[in-house]
Amino acid sequence: MNQEILRVEGLRKRFPGVLALDGVDLELRTGEVHVLLGENGAGKSTLIKMLSGAYHPDEGRIVLDGRPVEIRTAGDAQRLGIATIYQEFNLVPDLTVGENLSLGRPPRRFGFVDVKAMHRKAKELLDRVGLDVDPRTRIGSLGIARMQMVEIAKALALDARVLIMDEPTAVLTTSEVEKLFAIVRQLRDQGVAVVFITHHLEEIAQIGDTVTVLRDGRSVAEVPANTPENELVRLMVGRPIDQQYPRAAEEPGQALLKVEGLTRRGAFEDVSFEVRAGEVVGLAGLVGAGRTEVARAIFGADRYDSGQVEVDGRRLRPGDIDGAMAAGLGLVPEDRKGQGLLLGADIAENLGLVTLGRATHAGFVDRAGQRTAAAKVAGQLGVRMSGLGQEVRTLSGGNQQKVVIGKWLLADVSVLILDEPTRGIDVGAKVEIYQLINSLTASGHAVLMISSDLPEVIGMSDRVLVMARGRLVGELPADEATQDAVMALAVAEVEGTRVQ
Ligand SMILES: Nc1ncnc2c1ncn2[C@@H]1O[C@H](COP(=O)(O)OP(=O)(O)OP(=O)(O)O)[C@@H](O)[C@H]1O
Ligand SMILES: [Mg+2]
Repeated sequence: MNQEILRVEGLRKRFPGVLALDGVDLELRTGEVHVLLGENGAGKSTLIKMLSGAYHPDEGRIVLDGRPVEIRTAGDAQRLGIATIYQEFNLVPDLTVGENLSLGRPPRRFGFVDVKAMHRKAKELLDRVGLDVDPRTRIGSLGIARMQMVEIAKALALDARVLIMDEPTAVLTTSEVEKLFAIVRQLRDQGVAVVFITHHLEEIAQIGDTVTVLRDGRSVAEVPANTPENELVRLMVGRPIDQQYPRAAEEPGQALLKVEGLTRRGAFEDVSFEVRAGEVVGLAGLVGAGRTEVARAIFGADRYDSGQVEVDGRRLRPGDIDGAMAAGLGLVPEDRKGQGLLLGADIAENLGLVTLGRATHAGFVDRAGQRTAAAKVAGQLGVRMSGLGQEVRTLSGGNQQKVVIGKWLLADVSVLILDEPTRGIDVGAKVEIYQLINSLTASGHAVLMISSDLPEVIGMSDRVLVMARGRLVGELPADEATQDAVMALAVAEVEGTRVQ
């Protein structure tokens, strides 16, 4: 029997307008992976922030090795052997990988930072997570999945007894998840107590031992990790979910998005496809296949060397976002924190970001109209908030993502590109988003959906395009798009040559 290492008793935490935690109990044991499960806004991140010293509880206590402890700062947590990988990255984009991995404690020689030693140490940590990047690379230039692997390497450097991971797999694809799980199992077998938060239910039985379910700030159950998924859903949502992918296909109309021969040397080559009115087209592939790069180029966020893009019959100029938006194109980016939101502004302002230009009445901004529309879309998406005036920074991760999507739903574009739209979204809220995608296509819009979640991209697309190494390598109609068929295409080219 594994030994108790840390216990949380009756934790309460109130923020202005929200009781985030309303009496939470949790027991962590050595050599166990403990999954925290709950809807967006249930209180998972708030709970772990009290173990990492980021927040202090209003009531309740934390007991470590049988003794109550005060965790007031990140330093306290570190001294007690508690390391945390946050849901929102804590890396410094302008520093290198090596600098980020040694932050606060770089090795020194004669009073100077010993860069060689720093890079050697960084390389060791990167090897442990199987990440092949040069420690001199700037963090900001890595994709989001590789940033996450750096974040994990950083936590490993602390040799903690309790390792907390807040949605580490949200931005990873299958092969990286496998690497991560191997590391987690190894740490668990060495006696580390791991806390693991995820919205991917299938991961729970794979990696977990025990699950604590949080609902509305309360711990409502502790069950074994092999509990059937529908039972876990019932515990977390309070009701069963009948249909996870409610795609209602439409008869497709004219092509609204036409991409021809799109090429950027070193990134993608000769990408051509169309998305028609009423269609959801999925874009699948492994991380690094070039999907996000293509989406950004189409939208004008990045340039391309040759090829062309047409929206609703209008040819777009490369690198011209304003022109793309004026033609009726929208992009929900994968990196919501970096590109999707004004964190310091409130929910209403963020939802109005795209529409602001249009919501004018005789030259005045129609604030009342904007607010009504914002309230409606926030309601449809079930954004958990104290009100439209809540700062987006203080929303839970999943609820921030809902705001990014809501912003573009309000914009009423004719072609919407969604890059990993349900990353970090709970199972119940995902269905709401899928229903909104259905209503977009029912009213004649076109949707291009990039997703690394295979069941999702298969379940919600009418056609699936597969990318590998910067090229489109195949197309599957919905009824032939099985996970095996998509994966077979996605990895087939891996032995081939990289686009130059
Ligand atoms: N600093 C803060 N100020 C105000 N409210 C906050 C703050 N931090 C969290 N909250 C609120 O506390 C509640 C719980 O949020 P928390 O981030 O713990 O949810 P979560 O379970 O991690 O959700 P997700 O799955 O979306 O990450 C939410 O209603 C959130 O808006
Ligand atoms: Mg969270």
